Amino acid sequence: WAQKDYKLWLQYDKITNSKIRSEYTTSITGIVGLGNSETSKIAVKELELGLNSMLEKKLEVKSKLEGQNTLVVGAQSALNPELQKVVASDITQINEEGFVIKSVTVNNAKHIVITGKNDVGVLYGVYSFLRRIQTNKSIKNLEITESPKINLRILNHWDNLDRTIERGYAGFSLWNWQKLPDFIDQRYIDYARANASIGINGTVLTNVNANALILTPQYLEKVEALANVFRPYGIKVYLTARFSAPVEIGGLKTADPKDTAVANWWKDKAKKIYKIIPDFGGFLVKANSEGQPGPQNYGRNHVDGANMLADAVAPFGGVIMWRAFVYSEHDANDRAKQAYAEFQPYDGKFRDNVIVQVKNGAIDFQPREPFHPLFGAMQKTPIMMEFQITQEYLGFSTHLVYLPQLFKEVLDSDTYQKGKGSTVAKVVDGSLYNAKFTGIAGVSNIGNDLNWTGHPFAQANWYGFGRLAWNPYLDSETIADEWLKCTFSNDENFIKPVKEMMIKSRETVVNYMTPLGLHHIMDTGHHYGPGPWVANLSRPEWNPVYYHKADKNGIGFDRSKTGTNATSQYTPEIEKLFDNVATCPEKDLLWFHHVSWDYKLKNGQTLWNGLSLKYQEGVDQVKEMQNIWNKTEKYVDGERFKEVQMLLEIQYKEAKWWRDACLLYFQQYSGKELPAGVEKPT
Ligand code: GCU
Repeated sequence: WAQKDYKLWLQYDKITNSKIRSEYTTSITGIVGLGNSETSKIAVKELELGLNSMLEKKLEVKSKLEGQNTLVVGAQSALNPELQKVVASDITQINEEGFVIKSVTVNNAKHIVITGKNDVGVLYGVYSFLRRIQTNKSIKNLEITESPKINLRILNHWDNLDRTIERGYAGFSLWNWQKLPDFIDQRYIDYARANASIGINGTVLTNVNANALILTPQYLEKVEALANVFRPYGIKVYLTARFSAPVEIGGLKTADPKDTAVANWWKDKAKKIYKIIPDFGGFLVKANSEGQPGPQNYGRNHVDGANMLADAVAPFGGVIMWRAFVYSEHDANDRAKQAYAEFQPYDGKFRDNVIVQVKNGAIDFQPREPFHPLFGAMQKTPIMMEFQITQEYLGFSTHLVYLPQLFKEVLDSDTYQKGKGSTVAKVVDGSLYNAKFTGIAGVSNIGNDLNWTGHPFAQANWYGFGRLAWNPYLDSETIADEWLKCTFSNDENFIKPVKEMMIKSRETVVNYMTPLGLHHIMDTGHHYGPGPWVANLSRPEWNPVYYHKADKNGIGFDRSKTGTNATSQYTPEIEKLFDNVATCPEKDLLWFHHVSWDYKLKNGQTLWNGLSLKYQEGVDQVKEMQNIWNKTEKYVDGERFKEVQMLLEIQYKEAKWWRDACLLYFQQYSGKELPAGVEKPT
């Protein structure tokens, strides 16, 4: 029954608009597939699959150009001399992974050419072309040149070797370690295909809280099998490296990065990996964070650790993604300040093949966080973005939240590091400081659930991450539009309201969970549901009370100069903006300031009333989502319609739970009545 769900955004439903369909059928009468690689075969097969299904027509596939109105597919070097000539100048505009889609006339015959410098570019071009058709766009006079703007576009799977997934809400891990390497689940191929269709070119198979066993020969041959499946789809495999692996699986007494035996152990390990996986991507490392081992255990620092590993993979072209997600109980004054304090001074000290991976905000994937101050603050060190696609703090796979809204808010934020217009996107795509290489990671929300992501709409977050990794300047509305059309229907009566519902969904969740800059008040450990009252955990910065600091005088975390001075980690322009309670954006107010319950908000409400009304607004907005969805039955298959309907019902119940729990809890400090318009908790 879940077939529709399983097919993600590659439904390839028949084009129902006959006018548009006839434009397609007249412009495409056959396919000319050039090239012999696995990748080029996949590209042609995908075109056949997609076009035959959408146009309801069996297209002939030839290996030589003849006739007219054909779709010619192949890398530049595989094209005939006439075609090479007509695309020559377009080709100069793309990079190694880019593509050209062009309407051409050769020998008086019209054709459409999909080409690139390499086969993987052609494959991306094919998916882009199919998306045009899926979204009913014209294919007349095409002149498209596109290249990904970021080098490493990577999913981070927090998957354990026993197939549980840290913060995973869509079943167990796809990687069936027990049956690998000889059993290749069709799911691996479908996974690769879905990722290639949105331009993702890397996957970290294992949890950042790493298990050293993955680096033993027994597991590496399984990793090799997966790498072989993913390679033709342009996807490289990466692993997480547990810093203490030389001790745990190597029999050494230490993992000190300055110890020659340790460095040699890693060099040897890298050599062995590259022998079986020549295009292995490299390692992702979480070190000295949340109890994970790292160089600091031996009196060394992040640079020592990262550079030692970088030297091991450098001869083979590998990279080290070293995470900046660090905080410690020893300096619990303000957790938000620690990553910047620990990393910024190391700018310029890392090897050329190290990239520092920074979460979008300074705490931890909250429904809303101001951008991380490290973005733009290290001019000589490549910095990559880490977003979380899985909804650890946003209602798991139960609540509908369209995350590209959140991703875009961060990418569009102006750091002012090189004056106005120095957006986070320009840091991430490397254009601000001309970075040596660039990257973006998304913590995956994929599991072995029939629909991959638990919630049918969570597929949009995987899709949207991929699209923004390809081009961080795309707008989230366009992405929602594409996704809806490819996944459900092109009918405007469906698209318009449902798109609006998606766009609003992120603010909706902020409203009923953490309005006005509140954060980390989820119940402890699992992070599902409200828990602002939790105060008894051993480390202060794990307790929600540490973050909201509600008392009789007011609520919020003073990170301005009168408080922890975290604002000083931003450029003077931003510091000034955040520091002053009057100019601080209200959406971040309680992130940066402790304000009184009577503080006047811009709309004239007192803080207490405004906060209460925000919680109510969130609840009302979920009701509105339900109303919208209930009218879509005729556009959607029964299964997905019902699933989303049931999930929205839970979301509504839980939005009320959030509102009631938070308001009743905070009320004991404010000592005030709920304002008119806010429902009384039952
Ligand atoms: C969060 C999350 C952990 C995860 C960590 C990380 O703290 O709750 O499960 O390991 O982030 O990103 O390393």
